[in-house]
Amino acid sequence: MSLPLLKIGVVLSTMAMITNWMSQTLPSLVGLNTTKLTAAQGGYPDRSTGVLPANPEDSWQVYSSAQDSEGRCVCTVVAPQQSMCSRDARTKQLRQLLEKVQNMTQSIQVLDQRTQRDLQYVEKMEVQLRGLETKFRQVEENHKQNIAKQFKAIKAKMEELRPLIPVLEEYKADAKLVLQFKEEVQNLTTVLSELQEEMGAYDYEELHNRVSNLEERLRACMQKLACGKLTGISDPITIKTSGSRFGSWMTDPLAPEGDTRVWYMDGYHNNRFVREYKSMRDFMTSDNFTSHRLPHPWSGTGQVVYNGSIYFNKFQSHVIIKFDFRTSSISKSRQLDYAGFNNAYHYAWGGHSDIDLMADEGGLWAVYATNQNAGNIVLSKLNPSTLQIIKSWTTNHPKRSAGESFMICGTLYVTNGYSGGTKVYYAYSTNSSTYEYIDIAFQNKYSHISMLDYNPRDRALYAWNNGHQVLYNVTLFHVINSEEL
Ligand SMILES: *[C@@H]1O[C@H](CO)[C@@H](O)[C@H](O)[C@H]1NC(C)=O
Ligand SMILES: *[C@@H]1O[C@H](CO)[C@@H](O)[C@H](O)[C@H]1NC(C)=O
Ligand SMILES: *[C@@H]1O[C@H](CO)[C@@H](O)[C@H](O)[C@H]1NC(C)=O
Ligand SMILES: *[C@@H]1O[C@H](CO)[C@@H](O)[C@H](O)[C@H]1NC(C)=O
Ligand SMILES: *[C@@H]1O[C@H](CO)[C@@H](O)[C@H](O)[C@H]1NC(C)=O
Ligand SMILES: *[C@@H]1O[C@H](CO)[C@@H](O)[C@H](O)[C@H]1NC(C)=O
Ligand SMILES: *[C@@H]1O[C@H](CO)[C@@H](O)[C@H](O)[C@H]1NC(C)=O
Repeated sequence: MSLPLLKIGVVLSTMAMITNWMSQTLPSLVGLNTTKLTAAQGGYPDRSTGVLPANPEDSWQVYSSAQDSEGRCVCTVVAPQQSMCSRDARTKQLRQLLEKVQNMTQSIQVLDQRTQRDLQYVEKMEVQLRGLETKFRQVEENHKQNIAKQFKAIKAKMEELRPLIPVLEEYKADAKLVLQFKEEVQNLTTVLSELQEEMGAYDYEELHNRVSNLEERLRACMQKLACGKLTGISDPITIKTSGSRFGSWMTDPLAPEGDTRVWYMDGYHNNRFVREYKSMRDFMTSDNFTSHRLPHPWSGTGQVVYNGSIYFNKFQSHVIIKFDFRTSSISKSRQLDYAGFNNAYHYAWGGHSDIDLMADEGGLWAVYATNQNAGNIVLSKLNPSTLQIIKSWTTNHPKRSAGESFMICGTLYVTNGYSGGTKVYYAYSTNSSTYEYIDIAFQNKYSHISMLDYNPRDRALYAWNNGHQVLYNVTLFHVINSEEL
């Protein structure tokens, strides 16, 4: 047996310090167990060969002997094979725990950013709402002097907005919750850091429970806050001015943390070169990019980069191609059955925009139209590996009169046009297979939108507007059942 045998003659307290990460087992082991003492025959540690347990590779073994001549307790510690403190399972668990908490910190930062952003919107809305309410009361008081129609219009608007009040209240509570999470995670991080230096002060199990519990609550909170109904679109920010009138650009919503590579595709046909910029910053400030040549040219501006691959509609066909940037090869190609192509069912602006691919929180989607559905929009959820349709929904909205469309949290939003005043005016929920008309205006700064897609990671809309690459923030409200109001 070639076990590393450590012979340590020390006072118990010192030994406890060295090994106190074993808080569970140590007390009984160093408790001068008379049985063991008997087994060691009161002799010296190196005679302990006979009492080695059956499985010494798996755990630390501590043997205490009788006191030595100076009255100290002599212990023999048998280390597990290849064992170093840092390799000990519990230390590893602790490190994982710390990593987990650090990961949570990142999630919370994202959540916090989103919540702060939404809160600003909420506060603005609230002021407007309260103002309207006051005005309404005044109007009501003098309503005899008012034109009946005007009165009615305000009243209708008021009724429309009234249910928002409890939503606003709820939202403020959520923001508080995020703050609390932040504090808890900070506390845990501190505890864990301390623990790495001086282990033993806390019970590992208890810590583990605290982390798990927090993680679970955080996940539930993120789920609740991350998805919801579109209620607002911010003013646009122009990120860059480049390329032709038509094109598309995006970041990968599933890219690993810190990867903000920008993908850029100029033009809607006869092009097959995808530009890759190292980061959003690079994209904004330089013309430094890598070029990827696709095996086929694309049609339209409906491409999407998702989990390291670009999905695009092959020119003059209803074939969808998945091209993996990591291997620079086609990993899948499949016909989208019945989908119109070659300007059969383009968006209002034309440009072979028949098949629009996109991603949201729930996965990969294709928006197109078929003869079977009389040229109205069909929405299909796709398996990102096989490109097979998982499920389809048929809407009653003509594809050709749609400006653009994008998916958020399983709901398809359709805009009214590509030039002039634009708004999101139709929403189809795949959850309930129902539609509704809505009215969310947004600024069409350069008067020609040829691409508009949502990125669930940034919670932003990416748009190509007349040779300008533009971003909008969106505000989502999670849906509260009317019973809860
Ligand atoms: C002493 O060790 C024996 C066997 O290892 C165990 O059965 C017993 O419970 C221990 N006694 C104490 C007081 O820990
Ligand atoms: C933390 O996040 C990284 C990157 O997302 C991941 O590889 C790692 O497994 C995560 N760690 C834990 C403990 O969840
Ligand atoms: C975090 O620690 C501080 C100080 O120890 C304490 O007052 C506070 O209640 C803790 N917060 C949470 C959420 O545990
Ligand atoms: C362009 O990219 C290369 C390689 O990534 C880098 O060395 C160079 O500094 C970049 N140039 C500019 C102007 O950013
Ligand atoms: C993303 O790609 C990785 C590696 O190719 C794969 O394991 C993972 O399941 C993919 N995620 C999704 C959501 O498709
Ligand atoms: C979708 O429906 C399920 C149950 O039918 C519900 O739990 C969920 O919250 C809904 N999601 C949205 C975004 O409305
Ligand atoms: C979106 O919100 C973030 C965080 O508040 C902000 O940094 C960013 O500039 C905003 N983007 C747009 C397009 O308004």
